[in-house]
Amino acid sequence: MSTYKEIPIDIAYRLVNHGPVVMVSTKSPEGVYDIAPVAWNCPVRKSPSKILIGLGKTHKTYENIKSTGKFIICIPNLSSAEFVRYCGSVSGADENKFKKFPVNTEKGEKADALIPEGFTGYIECALDGEFQVGSVAMIIGEALKAGASKDGFTDRVSPEKESGRTIHHLGGGVFGILSPEVNEK
Ligand SMILES: Cc1cc2nc3c(=O)[nH]c(=O)nc-3n(C[C@H](O)[C@H](O)[C@H](O)COP(=O)(O)O)c2cc1C
Repeated sequence: MSTYKEIPIDIAYRLVNHGPVVMVSTKSPEGVYDIAPVAWNCPVRKSPSKILIGLGKTHKTYENIKSTGKFIICIPNLSSAEFVRYCGSVSGADENKFKKFPVNTEKGEKADALIPEGFTGYIECALDGEFQVGSVAMIIGEALKAGASKDGFTDRVSPEKESGRTIHHLGGGVFGILSPEVNEK
């Protein structure tokens, strides 16, 4: 049974509305699962949710998305900071990251890729579009299914709970954490 609750795909964009680091989870044509952190991401449409990610074209993640047309945007929180750093330091072309840094995972339903447990949420995506900015590809994913932490997301990310305290890349391997304070009307 999933440790996540399903959420409507027209609010899936709220998992990334506030600019957290995400991890993009994929499978290679050879059948090897991979995952890599991506700080350059943002929502571009609500219903259905569409998310843009900026990906270096030499990354294994890019090759995997191009060959399968599917990927999962996974949103980590502070509890996974070391996993995020590790996955950003090696390429899936050289190492099987899930074997070198074992984490509990579940499989996506719409995209054949792995979702680490304990994250704030995930968005299973189909490749919807791409444009080039030099060596970086701007990839747009259309949400097919989304899930979120049972207490870290209500109809929005809940930083009041630890599982909703996402991480934000300040640069140079330093992360900031979403504050538990919220301002509601
Ligand atoms: C915190 C963090 C944020 C990153 N953000 C991006 C990003 O936005 N775009 C990108 O192409 N690479 C980004 N990277 C680098 C890739 O995650 C890294 O090169 C990774 O090893 C690629 O793995 P792969 O070859 O298995 O796809 C980031 C790395 C870290 C640690």
